[in-house]
Amino acid sequence: MNGKEQNNNQINEFSKNLISWHKNHGRHNLPWQKKINPYKIWISEVMLQQTQVKTVLPYYEKFIKKYPTIKDLSNSKLDDILEMWTGLGYYRRAENLYKSSQILQEKYEYNFPESYDDILTLPGVGRSTAGAILSIAYNKKYPILDGNVKRVIKRYFAVRGEKNIEKNLWELSETLLPNKYNNIYTQSIMDLGSLVCLRNNPTCNICPVNLNCESLKLNLTDSIPEKTKKIKRKNLKLYFIIIQNYKNKDLILMKKNSKGGIWANLWSFPSFNEKCILEKFLKENKITEKITKYENIKHNLSHMRLNIEILRIKLEKEFFLDSYYWKNIYDKIGSSKPVISIIVRLKEEQKNENGNVLKA
Ligand code: ADE
Repeated sequence: MNGKEQNNNQINEFSKNLISWHKNHGRHNLPWQKKINPYKIWISEVMLQQTQVKTVLPYYEKFIKKYPTIKDLSNSKLDDILEMWTGLGYYRRAENLYKSSQILQEKYEYNFPESYDDILTLPGVGRSTAGAILSIAYNKKYPILDGNVKRVIKRYFAVRGEKNIEKNLWELSETLLPNKYNNIYTQSIMDLGSLVCLRNNPTCNICPVNLNCESLKLNLTDSIPEKTKKIKRKNLKLYFIIIQNYKNKDLILMKKNSKGGIWANLWSFPSFNEKCILEKFLKENKITEKITKYENIKHNLSHMRLNIEILRIKLEKEFFLDSYYWKNIYDKIGSSKPVISIIVRLKEEQKNENGNVLKA
């Protein structure tokens, strides 16, 4: 057998073995796999960007219950979508879904497009997500290249080095595609990456494509993919201040974050990068009540390590401020994880206080 033939066999075998492995070992009962439709596949694929299946599951179920169709989503408000997204992270995705739903309404009359170019124009849909939608929802022959699939391909072909790597990996991903069952194939290669071809300690003994895996032959599965240099997260100190209404303890002063920056469009307490700016804010607004320490929260974002110091003031007088609102802690709002965890604690404290009052 010459080199070329061997390579072709290796490729054909790959998709064949993967598809038959999937029958017994792949994922079959994911909620978006029931009664497949492109809208649901789009939502699930966007939620699954940089997020694990088990994290996505409850969010997906809630989302589809509230917005079962493109029409329902396009009639929604961004605030409501953000509220539902709270805790899932990468909030830009929620904003992009909302923007896309407006495009689907205006340009496609609530139908999900079927062409690669049209799907790629939707905000938040890149090449890999478009490929996943086209193959899973429409059974079309398109490659994908998310993090898990990159690892599988790098190991299978023993790809090392940085030169043109992205282009090269897309080409390899394309050569592996079968001529039929593209829907099953895409799910299979994703499942192989997340269940077998693990980053650390891959279980090569049960891998359906282990016979032709170059990294395994060369004993390189530990060094491929090469370890990337960890991106150093920037440390950032933040101050939140919980300002409680003087008449109604359930009301807290909040503002909506602007469009850019971290936690864009989400509700937050007054927040500051420096203590002196916080003090200036209090002084300018004639807030002179006692400040108490509430808690410290450490929270990591993809690119930042936040150290949030939270302070609290119980007002003793009426107070209003432009761009700030009195929000009830029992109302549902779209917020970041740290803000939600503080609100949960405030509610518990309120409940305990109320319990004590009733007992007394
Ligand atoms: N990651 C991205 N898409 C996925 C899918 N359809 N199934 C499992 N993991 C995924």
